[in-house]
Amino acid sequence: MSEKRLSGEVFYPSEDVISKAHVKNWEKLNKEASENYEKFWEERADELHWFKKWDEVIDDSDKPFYKWYKNAKTNIVYNCLDAHNQTHRRNKLALIWEGENGEFKTMSYFALHRETCKFANVLKSLGVKKGDRVTIYMGRVPEIVMAMLACARIGAIHSVVYGGFSVESLHERIEDSQSKVLIVADGAYQRGKIVPLKAIADEALQRAATVEHVLVVKRTGEPVNMETGRDLWYHELMNLPIASQKCEVEVMDSEDPLFILYTSGTTGKPKAILHTHGGYMVGTYTSLKYVFDIHEEDRYWCAADPGWITGHSYIVYGPLLNGTTSFMYEGAPNFPYPNRWWSMIERYGINLFYTAPTAIRGLMRWGNAWVNRHDLSSLRILGSVGEPINPEAWKWYNDVVGGGKCPIMDTWWQTETGMFMITPMPSVPLKPGSGTKPFPGIEMDILDEEGTPVGPNEEGYLVIKTPWPSMIRTIYNDPDRYVEQYWSKYDGVYLTGDSARRDEDGYFWIIGRVDDVIKVSGYRLGTAEIESALVSHPAVAEAAAIGLPHDVKGNAIHTHVILRVGVVPSDELKEDLRKHIAHEVGPIAKPEKIEFVDSLPKTRSGKIMRRVLKAKALGLDPGNLSTLED
Ligand code: PRX
Repeated sequence: MSEKRLSGEVFYPSEDVISKAHVKNWEKLNKEASENYEKFWEERADELHWFKKWDEVIDDSDKPFYKWYKNAKTNIVYNCLDAHNQTHRRNKLALIWEGENGEFKTMSYFALHRETCKFANVLKSLGVKKGDRVTIYMGRVPEIVMAMLACARIGAIHSVVYGGFSVESLHERIEDSQSKVLIVADGAYQRGKIVPLKAIADEALQRAATVEHVLVVKRTGEPVNMETGRDLWYHELMNLPIASQKCEVEVMDSEDPLFILYTSGTTGKPKAILHTHGGYMVGTYTSLKYVFDIHEEDRYWCAADPGWITGHSYIVYGPLLNGTTSFMYEGAPNFPYPNRWWSMIERYGINLFYTAPTAIRGLMRWGNAWVNRHDLSSLRILGSVGEPINPEAWKWYNDVVGGGKCPIMDTWWQTETGMFMITPMPSVPLKPGSGTKPFPGIEMDILDEEGTPVGPNEEGYLVIKTPWPSMIRTIYNDPDRYVEQYWSKYDGVYLTGDSARRDEDGYFWIIGRVDDVIKVSGYRLGTAEIESALVSHPAVAEAAAIGLPHDVKGNAIHTHVILRVGVVPSDELKEDLRKHIAHEVGPIAKPEKIEFVDSLPKTRSGKIMRRVLKAKALGLDPGNLSTLED
């Protein structure tokens, strides 16, 4: 990054890695990009296909509703599929997939294009049009990729709901988006068991009235209920003449919505983050290319789930835009044994591997022997995302998985940012636990309460000062909340919700969320979601959820529950509450600990003071209690 000697423990990139890297001189690129970020993002956009180019790169006349590539026409799917089909990549593998049960599938760019077109025609036959919302609820199977691309191809807005969510989470996302079609799998394999996705969806649909059709993808073959007139088998429709393999791509305005993705915020219901065709395309394409250093012969594996932003940007869109070969695995990392992942890296010759600290810590616990029995020499670059990676896990990942020769890209970003925001590139010196510096062309800072930048190594609010192409455009159906949540603390500056510090070398270190978001195993959950699931149980009067440090999960959920009058506390009731949360929100939201209490610390206006609960649990000073009611 610079010739200057850096402080602390630093890992310098090898000549081998630098000589291959797209970006050999990060400093130079960063200087050019920061001097003129409009030009930088214009040149990146020029690498992609547009039906019509822009009049202006950024239109900031209605801040914070920024518009990128104004009046340009494109469709992200054209660049993901059609563009490659006109080149040598036509026969290249787009996707390699392994099921948890050992099944295996590959798809060339030609095949993925054909299947996507057929799928798009099926959606059209169900009446789906440009601008309509379609909810997708599936496991990690190739059909989820095709479903997303098929929607985008015809201009429909996809809303993917993570397959680990359950009835109420699915229901509220369907309802909020007013989806008229739901695409669901009959079930998903997970750790040797079947998650009954269709049955969960049936229950959610009893609460949601907008859905006219349910398209069911057969994955497990287990019997499911099919409601006549509403439910249709995907494989049957794909064999009908309506599923022609010719489907013109819808020409979209650069700013037309591509998808919404729900994520947890500070208060209340999850919010629908909206991304668009043009800017999101340029952001994900460029960031993946530079950071994971995509080359033609590479095989890339992002082990996230397509149901989260990491999957959207870096399993589906980023890799396809770059014409790379992506690997996808359906199941659990340790099924049937803790070497499953390492065995697949070896068998498929994966070069670029991207996962989360929680997975690394989980696999680290099983010991080195499970890794060492595999030849992982194909690996060139590793990545991490979702939460801070502790130096111990970083070093294990570096030494044992990467054999000391693979730089680790610790990428900080969010559902809202769409792309990596603080990240190294392979030629950048690394410090374990730091994502290094902001992506070229993006200015970030750390501010105190008043909005003044803090000094070196001081903690403050992490903010973004320049617009970037793949930025959130709005919260779907709630533009006021978009302004309020992200742009109201400081004038003209995007508030990330994280706290961070910056060291004397300008390296950023993320500390964690400063709001009521809990990161559990890298998954983002709101205290409000967990609490409202708890109070929907007949035994519960009030509840408060907090996150406390956990060795593998990063944070674990702890809850304080006030029972209704007359309800007798018991261990059975605790178990019942845990099951209830898993049923309503999903297994990821199951609390580690449930404590029955008689009262909760509240402000005089009735807001639960979670920081007081947290301080008490950690044996820390609760800080200023002047607003405490009692
Ligand atoms: O707190 C930060 C944490 O994850 C949050 C965003 O969560 P989500 O929207 O679900 O997106 C996760 C995947 C992009 C951030 O506000 N976070 C994400 N990446 C990192 C991180 N914290 C530390 N280091 C990271 N690399």
